[in-house]
Amino acid sequence: MGFPTVRPRRLRSSQRLRDMVAETDLGPERLIAPIFVQEDAREPVPVDAMPGVHRWPLGAVHEEAKRILEEGVDKFLVFGIPARKDEVGSEAYNPQGVVQRAVRELRRELGDRATIMTDVCMCQYTTHGHCGIVARGPGSWYVDNDATLPYMGKIAVSHAEAGADVVAPSSMMDGVVGQIRRSLDEAGFTNVLIMAYSVKYASSFYGPFREAAESAPAFGDRRTYQMDPRNAAEALKEAELDVEEGADILMVKPALPYLDVIRIVKDAFPHYPLAAYSVSGEYSMLRAAGERGWLDEDRALLEVLYSIRRAGADAIITYYAPRAARLLREGRNAFRGPRSHRGGQAPPPGGSQQPREGGREAEPVPRGGGQGRQARHPGGRAGGLGHGLRAPHPGARG
Ligand code: PBG
Repeated sequence: MGFPTVRPRRLRSSQRLRDMVAETDLGPERLIAPIFVQEDAREPVPVDAMPGVHRWPLGAVHEEAKRILEEGVDKFLVFGIPARKDEVGSEAYNPQGVVQRAVRELRRELGDRATIMTDVCMCQYTTHGHCGIVARGPGSWYVDNDATLPYMGKIAVSHAEAGADVVAPSSMMDGVVGQIRRSLDEAGFTNVLIMAYSVKYASSFYGPFREAAESAPAFGDRRTYQMDPRNAAEALKEAELDVEEGADILMVKPALPYLDVIRIVKDAFPHYPLAAYSVSGEYSMLRAAGERGWLDEDRALLEVLYSIRRAGADAIITYYAPRAARLLREGRNAFRGPRSHRGGQAPPPGGSQQPREGGREAEPVPRGGGQGRQARHPGGRAGGLGHGLRAPHPGARG
């Protein structure tokens, strides 16, 4: 059976029908907001390449967190920029270090209203800017995997002691998840979760972050530990090892250039929650185009977040988290359409994700030919996939 009996456009003919059959949902509960804390900052320091993102001083970081919380995002991923760096990144596990103090501040000010996650790595803390212990021979150097592991365990425990709920190892050292699980358990933190940066690529999209976190390597690059962008199947090996080592949540990073990887990891590990990190470069790219008026940033950022959800991510780490949450909360979700809130009625608080009932159907239905622009196939879905009505959870698919 085909055209003219089958007309896919019928299901797109009103906002209400589009909302009814939408395959993917997106709410603020899916979003995690990164926060930068700078030990020697006196006031918020703007990050040049990431307009709208700041490095917050201790003592003020909870104010930023509260602002984000008010937008509806209650998960934070904390990154520290220490005042002192050394060869072994000892500020990373100092109980009085910048992240540890920031976490205590957030815990004190927010109580249990927020889930606090921390990045477990050394690159912001080492003079050489690498994610582990650097061993040097004559004319050569390498990041010493096994020498790094105990440090990772120490860093994670120090974060847990400060009150972190979730630790997120991002160093891409082999065995880091198992090491951290053992260290946490031995220290009594059996309930602290590990969100593993399982599949982390050596990506140019981290550029703006390295400015924000002052973590660019002083020599060499990260290609001996982060993954090669040409590889996808290898992601399954990384994810599998992290599962075996005790990861609670897997992660793919970056997100947008690796949607295929998100999909295969979700398909291979449907029983594990999957996070995707939409990294600094993804943010900067959209912000730059938005500032120039080259694209509709609000619409584009939601489209990107939907694409990451559609690919299979359960949670998304994004610098757009507060802005996206506001759009969703105010019913300014371009895909649900502002015109679905009629008669000047505000959407119910937090209710913009629920299908609205009642109300007139005021959506003009294009008729006849010559309307191709409004009704053009969105392009993201090829025909003939045989999808019927599916559960909204992308991970539940095929
Ligand atoms: C630390 C770390 C990085 C990011 C998160 N954790 C940088 C890197 O690996 O160079 C990047 C985040 C972003 O770009 O938003 N290892």
